[in-house]
Amino acid sequence: MQRPGTIRRTATAETDLIPRPAYEKIRRILKTLTGLSLTGYKDSCIQRRLAARVRSAGFATAEDYADFLLRNAEEARVLIKTLTIHVSKFFRNPTTFARLCADVLPELFAHCHREGNSALNIASIGCASGEEPYTLAMVIRETFAEELARLMITITGTDIDQDILQVATRAIYDQERMTDTPAAFKKRYFTSKEGYYHLHPEIRQMVNLLHHDLLRSVPAGTWDLLLCRNVLIYFDRAHQEIIIRSFADALRTGGYLVLGRTETLSSTLRGRFRTVCPIERIYQKR
Ligand SMILES: C[S@@+](CC[C@H](N)C(=O)[O-])C[C@H]1O[C@@H](n2cnc3c(N)ncnc32)[C@H](O)[C@@H]1O
Repeated sequence: MQRPGTIRRTATAETDLIPRPAYEKIRRILKTLTGLSLTGYKDSCIQRRLAARVRSAGFATAEDYADFLLRNAEEARVLIKTLTIHVSKFFRNPTTFARLCADVLPELFAHCHREGNSALNIASIGCASGEEPYTLAMVIRETFAEELARLMITITGTDIDQDILQVATRAIYDQERMTDTPAAFKKRYFTSKEGYYHLHPEIRQMVNLLHHDLLRSVPAGTWDLLLCRNVLIYFDRAHQEIIIRSFADALRTGGYLVLGRTETLSSTLRGRFRTVCPIERIYQKR
């Protein structure tokens, strides 16, 4: 028989990896210490990662870990890092950026001309260590220099994890983050030092980084282009819908939403978007 609070190691009942009372206690403590509510995240994902953290922090039971967390604000930061996955790379899914360059960005610039707008607002939500918004900044500087000179183009990268945003601010990357980056971009926009790539200030300055919880709201503003790739997969279906509905509200009519390759719009939300490219998951707000 299992002691209360003990982590079970069976692979069968993932949602029971941590006993419910201990799980709820940890959720409450985390919310109090950091403001992060785990409501909406896929339970099985959170349970699995939480169990791993309890073990690697050296606790035999989730109850003991909860008591430690209560007394240790630094541990709350470590836990957030464990619960949120930060895998990213420059030019992740290069064909998505090719499509943005070929169709979406030219259309957005044309819209600015037609309407006499002088500003264009882009956000990368769940930007991790900044690879996605910086890729957009490089692509715009490289391909649309004239528009960049004429328009006020704002690129905002947001994430819930403050530590990963600090990594984004430093903008120094290892080789693994660069494997899809074209050689010309590496040469022009990075300085290579001792195996690390340092992103040049001219690109860093194009991106504002913002600490923000997507579950609370979409960052304030009216957006022309929202990228939220490989973030929704961590949320349950109901919260995915709430989030995508809030994207639809925050985008201007004709603005674009880009999701990750494995993420989709539910049938209830299809009425709010036109599918521009089903493979690249690019949608336009009706
Ligand atoms: C796998 S990364 C995706 C990075 C990038 N978008 C890409 O596709 O390469 C997921 C990011 O979502 C962030 N995230 C998770 N929950 C969030 C929330 N509630 N609000 C904002 N960002 C969140 C995580 O911290 C993590 O950095």
